[in-house]
Amino acid sequence: DQRPILVQGPMPIEAENFAKKLEDVKEEKSGTFIFYIGKLENYPVIVAKTGKGMENTAAATAVAIERYNPIVIINQGTSGGHDPNLNVFDIVLGKRTVNLGSLKTTDKDENQGIDPTIWKPMDLMASEGSAGEDPNAEKPRFYEGDKDLLTAANAVKDTYTKGKIVEGTIGSADVWNNEVDRIKWFHTKYGSSVEEMEGASAAQIAKAYDVPFLGIRVLSNNKVNGGKYNPDTAAANQEYVYEVVKKYISDF
Ligand code: 5AD
Repeated sequence: DQRPILVQGPMPIEAENFAKKLEDVKEEKSGTFIFYIGKLENYPVIVAKTGKGMENTAAATAVAIERYNPIVIINQGTSGGHDPNLNVFDIVLGKRTVNLGSLKTTDKDENQGIDPTIWKPMDLMASEGSAGEDPNAEKPRFYEGDKDLLTAANAVKDTYTKGKIVEGTIGSADVWNNEVDRIKWFHTKYGSSVEEMEGASAAQIAKAYDVPFLGIRVLSNNKVNGGKYNPDTAAANQEYVYEVVKKYISDF
């Protein structure tokens, strides 16, 4: 039996376009997660509409792995730019994905205030001990994008005409950052190209089960260079990811 390719999208506009492209689709539900199980050029492909955010995505990823045993996972959708050189409709291939919400604050007593610019990244996967006490946990945890998926994605770059496609770092948290200095802080400290609310949670669960993973994110907005939100980017990204999946099926 062929193991399916799993393509995840958080919102309806980020999943349903791709689901409509599948053949012989059968829908299954688990909780609030919807799985569109179908075929693409005779190969099994499952589109998962996960809902937004880290929790929905982590759970939907674990359920999908346990139920469907995917061969690879692509997490895709919209994002906000951290890099001033990236514009709305550009696409970032997640060479790395990182959780931007995992932080250790400074040590301060009552009435000493809060000081987010000197908070430290915290790696919850550094050890089985307390991340709060372990100095080795004071670093970001980066999840590497799968090489074969990156190769397939780079090979079909030219099919995408609405913007450029670059490799970069996708940062995730259940936070929408609109403070430019805070965005710059992440861009400098983590090298983040874009932010969204799902990639790192899917990457973490994929890694827990040793399933190859890649995040593919289009910019729907970029506060850093004045790029206004455009929801049409979600459909454009799915068109491109469709080409990536076809290439992966034919080459790997
Ligand atoms: N910050 C955070 N999430 C964003 N998303 C798009 N742009 C941003 C941004 N600037 C995505 C998230 C989530 C939804 C709010 O849109 O991944 O699913």
